[in-house]
Amino acid sequence: MQDILEKTKDDRVELSEKEISYILKMNDPKELKALYSLADQIRLKYVKNQVCIHGIIEFSNYCRNNCLYCGIRKDNQRLKRYRMSIEEIVNVADWAVNRCGYKMLVLQSGEDLWFSKEKLVEIIKRIKDKCRVFLFMSIGERDFDTYAQMYIAGAKGVLFRFETSDPKLYSKLHPGLKYESRIEHLSWMKNIGYLVASGPLIGLPGQTEESLARDILLTKEIEVNMISMGLFIVHPDTPLSNYFSGRPELFLKTITAARLVYKNVRIPITTAYEVVSGKNGREQAFRAGANSIMLNLTPEIYRKNYNIYPGKTELKEHVHSSKSTKEAITLIRSLERRVCKGWGKDYTLTASDFMAGCR
Ligand code: 5AD
Repeated sequence: MQDILEKTKDDRVELSEKEISYILKMNDPKELKALYSLADQIRLKYVKNQVCIHGIIEFSNYCRNNCLYCGIRKDNQRLKRYRMSIEEIVNVADWAVNRCGYKMLVLQSGEDLWFSKEKLVEIIKRIKDKCRVFLFMSIGERDFDTYAQMYIAGAKGVLFRFETSDPKLYSKLHPGLKYESRIEHLSWMKNIGYLVASGPLIGLPGQTEESLARDILLTKEIEVNMISMGLFIVHPDTPLSNYFSGRPELFLKTITAARLVYKNVRIPITTAYEVVSGKNGREQAFRAGANSIMLNLTPEIYRKNYNIYPGKTELKEHVHSSKSTKEAITLIRSLERRVCKGWGKDYTLTASDFMAGCR
């Protein structure tokens, strides 16, 4: 432990897979407290006090895939499927940016080919016409041209998790999909120029601490701009219904380890962790290396059907969008941090990159 603490002080030294998995296996509350506090200091030193609020709009829950863990998988017949209209998506974005002050939005859906390249481009263009906003697309594996056209239309970020860096585990969990293809997508998304948010699911059945350590190292190797990590939560209507959900402590340890390894990256608090972490979960994560947050802006009539995992759609902190935005801002300020206006100078991206993304 002492070794690890010393090592993280030196910018030139990188923690090894063994050291990272050691952190992920730690259980002693005193040691963990020291570690969280170190991650918090590193966060302060490298990315300062700004917290970015990302709003997510889940515009369709149709999906052509059958990922074993996911509640909106194609074979889940118990789910009511929906698609928001283009008009509705644009209106929600307009409201979020021009009324609530959001600077960053994520448009997410299952892999739904009904939203063709042309439709996606139209949505992006119409949002960019009305809003000064940084747009991330989170729509899964689509072809190169779709991603290229969306970039030209004005979306400058992608949220695209690799889910696990273990190819065998990847193929078990994602029938018909290939790990190599996932990584290939990430690499050409970067080449197109997208800001990339990616990362693993934490606590998957069959995942070891060593594998999670490699996930963290992979985020740095890919040079993701934001490490987006989810906590696996068991969904009753999936083939993994008999397994256990990931524990909130494991999420905290993983963001801490990620901060120690990749010091100047953006690390959001993601919704699945909030579902299981309880009242002080958000604050604990902000004090353990996290520096941004994801809030749900999906209209209430649709939200209950974007049921990726249980508990998500009823999450108290996310129920009323305007109220939950205000609550998040209050917490951020109470921790003596500031709500970020964009991709400021304290980040891996400069202000002008951000402005360019907003145009
Ligand atoms: N628990 C937590 N996260 C999940 N996701 C899908 N299913 C679950 C689950 N059961 C995450 C995946 C996907 C993102 C949109 O939702 O990481 O990339």
